[in-house]
Amino acid sequence: MRIDKYLADNSIGTRKEIKGIVKAGRICVNGVTAFDPGMHIVPGKDIITMDERVIEYERFHYYMLNKPAGTVSSTREGASVTVVELLADENVKNLSPVGRLDKDTEGLLLLTDDGALLHDLISPSKHVEKEYLVQTEKPVSEADIKRLEEGVDIGDDSPTLPARAYEAEDGLHLIITEGRFHQVKRMLEAVDNKVTFLKRLRMGGLCLDGSLKPGEYRRLTDEELALLGHGC
Ligand code: URA
Repeated sequence: MRIDKYLADNSIGTRKEIKGIVKAGRICVNGVTAFDPGMHIVPGKDIITMDERVIEYERFHYYMLNKPAGTVSSTREGASVTVVELLADENVKNLSPVGRLDKDTEGLLLLTDDGALLHDLISPSKHVEKEYLVQTEKPVSEADIKRLEEGVDIGDDSPTLPARAYEAEDGLHLIITEGRFHQVKRMLEAVDNKVTFLKRLRMGGLCLDGSLKPGEYRRLTDEELALLGHGC
């Protein structure tokens, strides 16, 4: 692999910036300064340093974003800010959000360039749990909770799959294993209510880091990556 690609994959900068960094003599391969951005190296074997700091090879990138309301989950450009644009400083190509959140929905959104993991997490057959904090126009009764848990008719071919729901101090917590279009909002409509605030708190075993303010993001830790898809 070319050293400029290795550095680009590790979000060191744009190809142009990387060329400058290499030519400035800041990169060493096995302790020897490398001045050629096209030099070939073997990831995992050669030791690459920048300013004497080792740069481990990262094939894929994983971020947790606290999506703010008003941003769109699609990767397409448009009038609204996309969630991918919020991570522009990372210089990671092909980042995609794992599943969609509505424009007015906040909370946990995973972004990655690992297509296999993305596919696994959104695949309907995997039934990955998604936990939402839901605030509603009207109080949610015990009978409503029972109906939401059993599955409700939201106008699709089949009712929603069994879910879990409980009232907490901050609102209703609803845990679903599907990802139908506007699912939570439509489930609440099915029990004659309306969602006024929606935030995703968890996906599989990955919980939103409470210290991230809306719009903030961070890389996943190795432990968090291992938790994904296994449920809490
Ligand atoms: N359900 C919804 O209705 N909206 C979301 O953004 C996510 C789940």
